[in-house]
Amino acid sequence: MKKFVRRFSKVFGALAIVISIFLIYVQATYKQQFEVPVTGIKASKDSAVIARGEYIVMGPGHCWNCHAPDGETSLQTGTKLGLIGGHELKLPFGELYTPNLTPDTLTGIGGFSDEMLARAIRYSVKHDNAALIPFMSYNTMSDSDIRSVISYLRTIKPVRNKVKENSLNIVGKMVLRFIIKPVYPETTPKTHLEPDTSAAYGQYLATSVGNCVGCHTNRDKNTGDFIGAKFAGGYQTNAKGGTFTTPNLTPDEKTGAIVKWKPTDFTHRFRAGAIYSETPMPWKAYQRFSDNDLKALYYFFNSLEPVQNKTVTFQTARAE
Ligand code: HEC
Ligand code: HEC
Repeated sequence: MKKFVRRFSKVFGALAIVISIFLIYVQATYKQQFEVPVTGIKASKDSAVIARGEYIVMGPGHCWNCHAPDGETSLQTGTKLGLIGGHELKLPFGELYTPNLTPDTLTGIGGFSDEMLARAIRYSVKHDNAALIPFMSYNTMSDSDIRSVISYLRTIKPVRNKVKENSLNIVGKMVLRFIIKPVYPETTPKTHLEPDTSAAYGQYLATSVGNCVGCHTNRDKNTGDFIGAKFAGGYQTNAKGGTFTTPNLTPDEKTGAIVKWKPTDFTHRFRAGAIYSETPMPWKAYQRFSDNDLKALYYFFNSLEPVQNKTVTFQTARAE
């Protein structure tokens, strides 16, 4: 027995040393540096370019949904809206705090080059060459729309707001060390796309700007990978008191959420805003979609292959 205990403690001791070395290694190396292609995108002072950027940031791109300290609530409660960062995102492996996007030189993007901003949007690489934890999905946004977005960010009022550093636990550090990498666009992004009401432009809005695809497609909870047909709904998020499941946006006669809607119904639905107060869908931002963009989205969803997928939008948690 004594022998066994001795042997056991030897093995255990060796294992503890190996694990400690591994943890020290993760701790020392989790901040990886990455190089990605140069986008060459430069900000402009042209007022039309800036106006386009404001439209994307405040509307379809819903940047302030994450980069304002309390997300959508700042608008709902009448607090002055600002892209000053500090919105907390709680993950199983730590807390993230979104960066300050105002042009303050010490705490915001004032000191970042155009290239640093453009590649954060295109390749998910941070100003300090680290990979961003991928919350953003604008990799296929056109060059000219990225230019508009960064041109607009340069014009907003600088606000000094030092945001807390992300705080990751050891699992988070392992994720950062071994899994998180720059994201390369799946399709070659366009240099420029002229807005119109076509389904093709609607597809661009739904995938490269508004990220409808990210929520209205079922995904693996752990990896975030798409596991359902695109836009067929089924992705679940928990809220107070229940679970939201995203509706099916494909034109399936039986299970499509919008299949019976006319283009004007679709527009009215977006103008009305959120019905469920807890919904994760950024309705406040999307309320600012132009009529033409809403038409393009409508035609795009109706041009999709119908996929049968019945979903229940909100289910209250069973009291147990
Ligand atoms: C769903 C939430 C979300 C939305 C929407 C979002 N962001 Fe972010 N953004 C983040 C998070 C989280 C980080 C930091 C991730 C990290 O620290 O790894 C970030 C980082 C950034 C950075 C990197 C800053 C740096 O330090 O290099 C830029 C630039 C940026 N976002 C711009 C934008 C713009 C522009 C939009 C809108 C077109 C936008 N974001 C929309 C969550 C979001
Ligand atoms: C962050 C997740 C998220 C994003 C992004 C998102 N949605 Fe949703 N959407 C939901 C959820 C959850 C619901 C169900 C609850 C609700 O109606 O608010 C929903 C509901 C809907 C509905 C049904 C409304 C009704 O009254 O039946 C439509 C239409 C819709 N979304 C379209 C879109 C479009 C178009 C986009 C992109 C511009 C988009 N969604 C982006 C999560 C999202």
